[in-house]
Amino acid sequence: MACVQQSVLCWLKRAQDQSHEKSDQLSDMTEHQDQVFNEAYHGVPSSRLTSVQRWGKLWYKTSLLCGITRVTRRHLPPLCRHSSTAASFKAQDLHVTQTDQKTQLPDFNNLKFGQTFSDHILEVEWSIKRGWGKPSITPMHNLSLHPASKVLHYAVELFEGMKAYKGEDGKIRMFRPLENMIRMNSTAQRSCLPTFDGEELIECMKTLISIDKDWVPDSRTSSLYIRPTMIGTEPQLGVSRPESALLFVIIGPVGAYYPTGLKPVTLLADPKYVRAWPGGSGQYKMGANYGPTLSVGQDAEKQGCQQVLWLYGEDQQVTEVGAMNIFMYWINEQGEKELITAPLNGLILPGITRKSLLELARGWGEYKVSEREYTMGDIVKGLKENRVKELFGAGTACVVCPVEKILYNNEMLQIPTMSEGAPVAMKFYNTLLDIQSRPGYDEELFHKNNPKPLKAVWPDCNAPVLVNDITVL
Ligand SMILES: Cc1ncc(COP(=O)(O)O)c(C=O)c1O
Repeated sequence: MACVQQSVLCWLKRAQDQSHEKSDQLSDMTEHQDQVFNEAYHGVPSSRLTSVQRWGKLWYKTSLLCGITRVTRRHLPPLCRHSSTAASFKAQDLHVTQTDQKTQLPDFNNLKFGQTFSDHILEVEWSIKRGWGKPSITPMHNLSLHPASKVLHYAVELFEGMKAYKGEDGKIRMFRPLENMIRMNSTAQRSCLPTFDGEELIECMKTLISIDKDWVPDSRTSSLYIRPTMIGTEPQLGVSRPESALLFVIIGPVGAYYPTGLKPVTLLADPKYVRAWPGGSGQYKMGANYGPTLSVGQDAEKQGCQQVLWLYGEDQQVTEVGAMNIFMYWINEQGEKELITAPLNGLILPGITRKSLLELARGWGEYKVSEREYTMGDIVKGLKENRVKELFGAGTACVVCPVEKILYNNEMLQIPTMSEGAPVAMKFYNTLLDIQSRPGYDEELFHKNNPKPLKAVWPDCNAPVLVNDITVL
């Protein structure tokens, strides 16, 4: 009898475990499918989906119930990928008019950031009535805007900053452009601007870059800067969602950020200045976040600092530096080697360089890698105890930017980043430059770090490992 009881109990336990496992799998799957679905429709709220799209969603849910786990947006029924009118513009509709007056190319050895632009502009209009129009590439020109346009009054604007590089094989590649498209769509949602299919914009940008390919510098350290932008154009002074918008992309060559080697910077850390706050818009890339930082930058300059270290809260959390994310490499209180950066808690921009550094560092496994809050108090104590080794910013413009001093509470803190040549920051810098200039290096590196097949680690495979290897011509 005891034996039968034991078997029944055992069987019940196994059934319970299996059911928990199944429900965990199902919730993982649901999360995955929902993410895939949202990416495919770029967060268009259900209420705004067309009936065809709603059928698409139902198809997704059914696939989930039938246990189809690896559904990607490529499996969406074709009609469901976009509404027939306007959920996104399409690259196949792109119309190109090339200039017959090409400007003379600049001296690539003497470029100032953001002052030189190529011969063409990519534009797409959107309106609430017609949705997205057809994209066009035309000769570079000024925009014509009604003086009541929303962008001019309420800063209804967003932008992205990304780069394309000429590799050692002479081909041009953009660095992780899909990441920028995901961030751009998330900013669009927060800005009440229209979302779109990021892959379609990448296709249009590829055409723009191939038309202006002579503007891509042929060097390991220089690159082509790409500036996708969106503005609210509706000529109406009410503080309300714009009913029309313009998305445009301009490109231009940018020179080596460090023509004479990595140059460390001095930061101003003054808790009276705040860049972002919980519930605010700090995690989005909108112009309205940047204008108000200019006078703080001027104050920093007056005090002999090149950048502002943005702090937050009573405990003075370290969040970002200038327009970069910030990393500290130190020996933590537990005596462990640790690379630490602020978490994605809404106060910082989710940088694509930040993400890449974290992925690389986790792959290398040489030290602990943490995304968590840390404070000026931690830096000051760590410095006193000789535990702080390196502090550096990370962003598209410079890749990494070493910090050598912080002006804090009228005291100049000396950071030993360069004392041993910043080995951690330099390894990131050299690796990212290799990834950007050496074809196939990212795959090589990834496999070295991680023996699992790519698809097992990146099931959706929408955002490939490090370089979205988009070859232009
Ligand atoms: C506020 C802010 N933080 C961080 C970054 C770094 O982001 P990314 O690495 O995507 O260039 C930027 C640059 O765009 C920025 O403006």
